[in-house]
Amino acid sequence: MNKKNNIAEIQNQTEDFDVEKFRKDFPILHQEINGKPLVYLDNAATTQKPKSVIDAIEKYYQKYNSNIHRGVHTLSENATEAYESARLKVKNFINANSTKEIVFVRGATEAINLVAQSFGRNSLSKEDEIIITELEHHANIVPWQLLSQQTGVKLKYIPINKDGELVEPEYKKLLNEKTRIVAVGHISNALGTINPIENIINMAHEYGAKVLIDGAQATSHTSVDVKKLDCDFYVFSGHKLFGPTGIGVLYGKENLLEEMPPYQGGGDMIKMVTMKETQYNDLPYKFEAGTPNISGVIGLGAAIDYVNKIGLENISVHENALLNYANQKTSEITGLKFIGTAKQKTSILSFTLEGIHPHDVGTILNNEGIAIRTGHHCAMPVMEYFKIPATSRASFSFYNTYKEIDALIEAIEKCKKVFS
Ligand code: ALA
Repeated sequence: MNKKNNIAEIQNQTEDFDVEKFRKDFPILHQEINGKPLVYLDNAATTQKPKSVIDAIEKYYQKYNSNIHRGVHTLSENATEAYESARLKVKNFINANSTKEIVFVRGATEAINLVAQSFGRNSLSKEDEIIITELEHHANIVPWQLLSQQTGVKLKYIPINKDGELVEPEYKKLLNEKTRIVAVGHISNALGTINPIENIINMAHEYGAKVLIDGAQATSHTSVDVKKLDCDFYVFSGHKLFGPTGIGVLYGKENLLEEMPPYQGGGDMIKMVTMKETQYNDLPYKFEAGTPNISGVIGLGAAIDYVNKIGLENISVHENALLNYANQKTSEITGLKFIGTAKQKTSILSFTLEGIHPHDVGTILNNEGIAIRTGHHCAMPVMEYFKIPATSRASFSFYNTYKEIDALIEAIEKCKKVFS
């Protein structure tokens, strides 16, 4: 099949997906940047918010702003109800057993720090080992390095290969009876690699190790079933799932969360406080000290409703088609090198352009109204592996179009001309 036919076939796969209809739900997409229509291709950094999410937050502040779990008045009851109903939405979204397993935090980063400090600091010593990977973003590296400094626990890294995939046989070699925690990203933010988390979880469990999956980059692209995965912890951020910033989720198996001490102390995480001691609250409140991000939780609930309405299956078909299209088109550009060519990938295209620094690429693209991320993507060890300081990264979401990818290609060509 020639390239033209191939591209037509890709576009046919998603002709039922009414992208223009969905785009209308996102007010931010309809504007010009530097005199050109905005082409937003920085979805791995943060996703845009549909009107329903913005409205839910606005409604909370306009109609029932109040503190939760504390008041007997109507506003407080309404706020509490909205907050707890969002928890139920999250529980169903990832198929947890119970709302007790859903802890609201600031984001994936805070969730990983919570597990490292509450679970790890209290149970690990220099005899123990933690396995992470060379593919992680800093949020899934630094908390474990801090823990290692505090407890002496040894940190080991699963290496990657030239396609940006984890080398599974090496993982097998790293595992042993000293392994206590395996913490792995579901999808790489820098390269888009989808990791074989089912195998990783099963193999870790053979040694009795607990597994944390960092789903920051996954929940907007693929459905997650924590029961089926049997992971011990799963974390994600609201803002990468069309929800607000400053809100995220820690899922933990109930028996583990039950055993873990609080991460922070304060209001709402207590049952009783005397001057001598404190009796902690039940799950999940034990981990939610202080007034939480109520509007953020409500916004996240609205984002989940929105995603459910479209369906992650439909989203992933469209995004895969976009990625295939972009791959085909960009492979025709001389001097462009893909960084990250895993067989299992989500809609992230990381690349370098010969002789042009990624920051210059980003600046020229911005002049054309195109937003991509350039840099190390908070994943410096990945850059170290590929011996490059940075990449240009275009990351697609379900509201992106083939036309926008054409605009990206045209702008890359322009960039090459400017630097030739
Ligand atoms: N981790 C985010 C990214 O990949 C910020 O850009």
